[in-house]
Amino acid sequence: MSSANSPVLHWEDTPVPCLEGDTALEALLRAGIAIPHSCRAGACQSCLVQAKSGAVPAAAQQGLKDSLRAQNYLLACLCRPEQDLTLAPPGQGVRIPAFLTEADWLSDSVLRVRLAASEPLGHRPGQYLTLFRPDGLGRSYSIAGDDLELHVRRIPGGAMSNWLAEAQPGDAVTIQGPAGDCFYTPGDPTQPMLLAGAGTGLAPLFGILRDALRQGHQGPIWLYHGALNERGLYLTTELQAMAAEYPNFAYRPALLDRDGPLPELISRDHPKLNGWRGFVCGDPTIVNMLRKRLFLGGMASRAISADAFLPATLK
Ligand SMILES: Cc1cc2nc3c(=O)[nH]c(=O)nc-3n(C[C@H](O)[C@H](O)[C@H](O)COP(=O)(O)OP(=O)(O)OC[C@H]3O[C@@H](n4cnc5c(N)ncnc54)[C@H](O)[C@@H]3O)c2cc1C
Ligand code: FES
Repeated sequence: MSSANSPVLHWEDTPVPCLEGDTALEALLRAGIAIPHSCRAGACQSCLVQAKSGAVPAAAQQGLKDSLRAQNYLLACLCRPEQDLTLAPPGQGVRIPAFLTEADWLSDSVLRVRLAASEPLGHRPGQYLTLFRPDGLGRSYSIAGDDLELHVRRIPGGAMSNWLAEAQPGDAVTIQGPAGDCFYTPGDPTQPMLLAGAGTGLAPLFGILRDALRQGHQGPIWLYHGALNERGLYLTTELQAMAAEYPNFAYRPALLDRDGPLPELISRDHPKLNGWRGFVCGDPTIVNMLRKRLFLGGMASRAISADAFLPATLK
């Protein structure tokens, strides 16, 4: 319910009333303003906007890099305005033009997409970017390497994944990022590392793995890639070749119908994980289970980095 004291948003000269409990995203969408959005939970950063005036609630800047915070950027889905705010779409330099250079299928359902950007993104392999179609639809994808390599699972009826599956080299997109803290830091080159995820959760893990090996990581690195069955695995030949080349790297493809649930398999292999570093990515339910299991195995919570691939919420 709106009251005389309810804050008012201003969007390019349009006043937008906030109802009690509204997020800025809800208020703007209700007013017919087409703000890109997907997860509505602060995970994808597609709803990034800039406050031109007014106090930005601290919670609305969760997960944003310092340079964006300093310029009063905020996530509209996390912003419950406490007073009037003037908001605007991201300015120049935050979303940059890019185009598709290559697309090939890694399995029945996973498409590898490569992009070229008009300027360097300055990312670390394992972080994610947010990709916008020309009509403004935005979705986030993890970056699997030094170049802008993405692994996109084709979702039946999925707006972006099906558009990408039909896209051609040269097709234009816009990208924003990088974001997220799933990336290799070479602080302790002997620390054991555990990388685990299912489906396209492999994308950031593959990026982190290649980065760690290239930077000369010497400690053991275990990569668990979970799938329901053989058809859900991909990049197996490349990963087996890397395991043969690097004695400190162990690749464990894990099939639910053969090996049981991924967290239990990891517990059987590594009952004690004290002193390890962990990365868990992909389906949000599996990420939560894995994170809990690593913690219960003795891994410090600050040593666990996670990216949950939250889907779009259609409400
Ligand atoms: C930080 C982050 C990183 C991500 N990284 C990747 C990545 O590297 N690779 C990747 O493939 N995806 C990744 N995602 C998910 C991605 O952003 C999209 O949500 C996904 O590609 C589906 O988009 P779509 O437009 O094709 O489907 P939508 O049109 O958004 O969805 C269509 C329908 O399918 C449902 N749906 C969406 N995703 C799934 C799913 N996984 N399983 C079952 N139902 C689903 C939706 O709820 C909806 O009902 C990431 C998400 C986040 C937040
Ligand atoms: S971060 Fe706001 S919609 Fe995803």
